[in-house]
This record gives sequence, structure tokens and C-alpha cells, in this order.
Amino acid sequence: MSVVRIERDGDLAVVTVDNPPVNALSASVRQGLWDAAETLDADPGIRGVVLICAGRTFIAGADVTEFGKPPVPPHLPDLVNRIEAAAKPWIAAIHGSALGGGFEVALGCRVRVAAEGASVGLPEVNLGIVPGASGTVRTPRLAGVAAAVELITTGKPVKAAKAREMGLIDAIVPGDLRAGALAFARQALEAPLPAPVSVRPVTAPDEGFWTEARGRVAKAAKGAAAPLRALECIRKAAEAPLAEALAFERQTFLDLRGSDQSAALRAVFFAERAAPRPAHLKDVTPRPLTRVGVVGAGTMGAGIAAALRDAGLPVTLIERDAAALERGLHTLRGIFDGAVSRGRLTAEAAADRLAGVTGATDYAALAEADLVIEAVFEEIGVKRAVFAELARACRPDAVLATNTSYLDPRAIAEGLPNPDRFIGLHFFSPANVMKLLEIVPTPDTSPETLATGFALARMLGKVPVQAGICEGFIGNRILKRMRAAAEALVREGVPIAEVDAAMRDYGFAMGPFEAQDLGGLDIAYLQREGARAAGRTVPETLGDILVRAGRKGQKTGGGWYDYAPGSRAPMASAAVAKLLAPLIAGKVALDRPAIADRLIAEMAAEGDTILAEGIAATPADIDLVEIHGYGFPRWRGGPMFATGRRG
Ligand code: 3HC
Ligand code: NAI
Repeated sequence: MSVVRIERDGDLAVVTVDNPPVNALSASVRQGLWDAAETLDADPGIRGVVLICAGRTFIAGADVTEFGKPPVPPHLPDLVNRIEAAAKPWIAAIHGSALGGGFEVALGCRVRVAAEGASVGLPEVNLGIVPGASGTVRTPRLAGVAAAVELITTGKPVKAAKAREMGLIDAIVPGDLRAGALAFARQALEAPLPAPVSVRPVTAPDEGFWTEARGRVAKAAKGAAAPLRALECIRKAAEAPLAEALAFERQTFLDLRGSDQSAALRAVFFAERAAPRPAHLKDVTPRPLTRVGVVGAGTMGAGIAAALRDAGLPVTLIERDAAALERGLHTLRGIFDGAVSRGRLTAEAAADRLAGVTGATDYAALAEADLVIEAVFEEIGVKRAVFAELARACRPDAVLATNTSYLDPRAIAEGLPNPDRFIGLHFFSPANVMKLLEIVPTPDTSPETLATGFALARMLGKVPVQAGICEGFIGNRILKRMRAAAEALVREGVPIAEVDAAMRDYGFAMGPFEAQDLGGLDIAYLQREGARAAGRTVPETLGDILVRAGRKGQKTGGGWYDYAPGSRAPMASAAVAKLLAPLIAGKVALDRPAIADRLIAEMAAEGDTILAEGIAATPADIDLVEIHGYGFPRWRGGPMFATGRRG
């Protein structure tokens, strides 16, 4: 069947794009639309054209798989111009998402209508490029420069109602979109139509606007190049003649399409889409998940419960006594209240989320749970006792999961009846925010249980990565190596603040020492002490020295840095300098890029070992772990991509 088909409805034509899964603008779709414009222009019985899509969405953009291949005509900018120049006006009827090139095609239409649930956007910056088919030139002419800046530099799509307010679409059509769009078109054709978007005037803002916008966009971009380049394109569109602006946009698009950042962001895009559905579980049906339990309502348990509630799952929360339960529910309330005060959730929705949580201290409340996630203290004895209770209280087919960070899941599951239903589900803090979920099967875990872990990740909107069993799994193991390398630099004489600054310059929100001060140095310290107590040789770290001196991080007023009371701003610490002085070799001059290169190289080298041991399946998995669990700059693609390990 053809990817573009034409039907007639009286004196209107309906052009349908049908190119699953997301109607991307492949060469055949572009050609099909071009041919449709030619055919319908030549048809005297047709007055107007409704452009609509089959399947789950309107055109979701250029076909990203074609990037990097020689371009095939008709080119998208020419197609958008062709549609705009059609003798018979085109009306876009949008459902699902009109994104990137898809929205640019809609911009070539004379009128845009959308279904209630639809959204529109220009997300190109997320792929390291700018819109390449007039998005930066037509959007300001349609909706004004400020709206264009917001839409294009953030890459965030907007819902139909907001799009209508911004002037990006002309109307929202309730009910059947095709019928509604045809009716709208018939009525619209009775009066003079709005001018084609490209000939509409645009008002150029003053210098102050651009200065403010540049500052804001640069701050949000955190080193990504595309948002600022997009801003330059919009400025050109506001100040230069149309043809010049179009040429400028096209050149910027082509430059960026060939850039390292765009290659990295495309690799991440495809890795993220592959992650939730691994090939080896293709034929495995997960267990249904309708009721979930969480044991332990501390930092992680409360966060996990919030994530489950955000996905609409009813949650039973178990604590060891009434007081701990009350604290846990208080934490949970705090999470939802925070979302309300940030405008992310209405007060009613927050109340509903909380109402879906049943607190209990008796495991009998878990009798009907399909899945229980344990998040109690990181102590093997405590965890084993919890699983013994779960084995008694839960259905024999209930999936039982541990959120342990460092313990061996096999040891936790020892003696558990039906160990095929046991699995590690390693969430990251804050669990309702962080996207990463490491999924850790034991040798006994059944494929159904594993598939259920991935199904849960999909329900929660997480990025799942399967990890093998080793200390720290994928992410914390790499973190440990990176921190050791950072300490090694300090021992060589690189100032602590320089290491942090180098990683910030590289694109992390925080350097490794600042991050430890925020999270607390004591957790890793206690883990090392535990290993020492168990007879293992664990060399003393600089962090150990600080913790022994009472410096556990911000919570004790200082760690690697000093903090003024009530402030989170790190200040170089004379006390730390004195404590560590005997261990510091001298002063070395390493510039920041060299510092960052060294730490990234260490991360990638640990990644190699992890791959060689089969702990991670692919370099892409390691990159996803770093990006979604540890703040690795997305536009660098992850440590494996950045060091050329993914080609
Ligand atoms: N090109 C090629 N393949 C694409 C694609 C695209 N633009 N967008 C999505 N796909 C593929 C995915 O890789 C996935 O493939 P798979 O099934 O083989 O894994 C499949 O379509 C379904 O994608 P999702 O799993 O993401 O489906 P959802 O229903 O969850 O989401 C979506 C749909 C909102 C459209 C989402 O896929 C999306 O955001 N896509 C990217 C949109 C985008 O970035 N568009 C701009 C492209 S650049 C451009 O247009 C340049 C122009 O200005 C010149
Ligand atoms: P926490 O100390 O904040 O919370 C633990 C909770 O478990 C407490 O509320 C405690 O009352 C409860 N608890 C203890 N024994 C219990 C029992 N027998 N029955 C019911 N509840 C019990 O600890 P946190 O940080 O939430 O960690 C929990 C687990 O998650 C640990 O295994 C930890 O390694 C892991 N983890 C922690 C991360 C973090 O950043 N804090 C990240 C990822 C995993």
C-alpha cells in the first residue's frame, strides 16, 4: 500500500500519510506528498486539501534513520514550500504529535487544526540540530518571536490548548478529526483564508530581548550547541529577508547534522527507544502488575512509592513500626506537596496520589500484591529477614525485588521459596525523578520475572538497563572508579575545586567532590568499613580521612568543602587542606579539559571491563546508565560514545 493516498470527499481531497510507526518523512512520503500536491492542483473538481495521518500520530518528523545518508529529493524545505504554494489550499489535521519536520509540513499548510489530545513541537535541538525546513523562519511569523524562541530552543512540545493560545494552530476539533477537519475546511473556504505563513510580517524585538534570551538559553543548554544556534536562526528570521533567513537556517541545520553532538544525541535517542524492549525478551509475557508493595519507607522506599503512584498503581507501604510508617508517609506527602508547589501537580491530584497509598506494619497487607520492592537498610541480615516475611505473606507467584545498591542479590535471596520470582530492581535517588532503573536478575530469575521488571520500567517511564551481579552493578561500579581517579588527581596536586570545575565545564551539573558533599561521604565510607571488617583489603581513601574527622558533607557543615550555615555554596576548606596535606605530592598543572579527559577515560575503561565480564550487554547500555543515573551530559553521548567505543 502506498504511504500517501488521496481520497475525495465532494470538492475536498483528503491526503493521508500512512507510514508506520510514526509517519516519519521518508523519501517516499516526501515524494508522495509532492505528487499529491501536483495531482490535486491539476484537478478542477477540488477546492481544498485536508492533510491527515493514519495510525497513532501525525507526522513525527524527518526520518532520523536517513540522517548521515545522501539526501534524496524532494528535499523537505522544497516540499514545505510546494505545499504552501499549492493552488488548492492545504489544511493540516493533527492528532498525536506533529513534531519537527511534521510540524514544518503543517506550517506550509494554510490552516492547522488539531484533535484535543494532540501536541505540536520542534524538538530538533534534542537531536543536536535546528529545524531544517523553515521551522525557525515560519514559526516567528505565525506565533511571534517570543513564542518561537520558547518552542524551538527548549524543544518541548506543547499541547493543543496551549498551541491554540500561542497561535501555532487555528482550532481544536472535538470528536472525529477527519469529519471535523472537513467541516472546518468547508467553512474556512467560504471566506478569504489567512495569508500563507511565509508572507506574514514578523516584528523584530530589540537588542535587550536577544541578550536576555541568549543568557537564558545558554544556561539551560549546559554546553549543548543546538539551542543557541537555533536562537541565531530565529534572530535571522526576525531581521533578514525570508530567503536569506531560510538559507541561514538550512546551512545551520546541515552544519549541525554532521556534528559530534548530533551524532551523540541520535545514538542516545535510538538507545533509549531500544532499552525498554530488549530483543531477548521479545517472546516473553510479563506478569500483570496491578497492586504493588514497597517495604521500607525511607529515602528510597518513599521515592519508589511516589513513582508507582505517578504511574497510577495502588501501593501498600510497609514499615517496621507505626512511628517509622508515619515518617515514611510524611516523606511521601512532602514529595507530592513539592510537586504541587512547583506547579507540576494539582492539589487534587496530589491528594489522589496519597490516597492510593495504604500504610501497614503487618506483612499480611501484601497478600494480594503482584510485586513487592524491598528498600530497607543496606544490611544483609535485615534484608533476609524481610524476604522471609515476604515468602510467608505473599502469593507464591508474586515477584519479589530488592533495591540493594551493593549487596549480592543471590545472598539476599538465599533460602527464598520460588527463587525464580526474585530480582534486583535498582532505582536511583530521587526514585520518582531519576529515569534509570538497573534490572539485576540472579541465575534463578525466570524470563517472566525479568520481563516483568522491564514492563514495570515501561509503566513508570524509566530507562531500564539489565546489569549482571558485581559490586555496584554498572553505575556505582563506574562511579567508584571515577571517584578513585578524582582522588588520585588530588593526591597528585590538582586542587579539589579544579577537578569539580573541570567536570562542570565538561557538562556535568556538579563535580565529583561537590556531589559527594551533597549526598554524604558516610555511605561509601561505611561500605568500605564493612568490607574491611569482613577481612578485605580496602586501601584508605582521602574520603575516609575526612569522614573520620567528622566531615560527612553538607549535612555536617562540611566535607570536601566548607559551607556557611544555611548555604549550599562550596568554599575551599583550610581544614581539608591541612588534613590532606601529608598525602598531596605537590602541585601539578593540568588544564580542565585534560582533567575531564582523564576521568572520562577511567569511566570508559571500567566500562570495558564491565563489558568483558558480561555485566553490561552493550556500550550503549553503559552510556544510558551514565546519562540517566549519573548526570553525564547527554550531548556527549555517554562515556563509551565520547571515547569512540561505539563507532
Ligand atoms: N525517525 C525515525 N524513526 C523514528 C522517529 C523519527 N523521527 N521517531 C520515532 N521513530 C521510531 C522509534 O525509533 C521507534 O522505533 P522502534 O519501534 O523500531 O524502536 C518507533 O518510531 C516508535 O517510537 P517511540 O517508541 O518513541 O514511540 P512513542 O509512541 O512513545 O513516541 C513520538 C512517539 C512522540 C513521535 C516519539 O517517537 C518522538 O518523539 N520521536 C522523535 C520526534 C522528533 O525528534 N522529530 C524531529 C526529527 S528531526 C526533524 O524533523 C528535522 C527537520 O526539521 C528537518
Ligand atoms: P533509609 O535509611 O532512608 O530507609 C530505610 C527504611 O527501611 C527506613 O525507613 C527503615 O525504618 C526501614 N526499615 C528498616 N528495616 C525494616 C524492616 N525490617 N521492615 C520494614 N522497614 C524497615 O535508606 P535508603 O537510603 O532509602 O536505602 C534503602 C535501600 O535502598 C538500601 O538497600 C540502599 O542501599 C538502597 N539504595 C539507596 C540509594 C540512595 O541513594 N539512598 C540509591 C539506590 C539504592
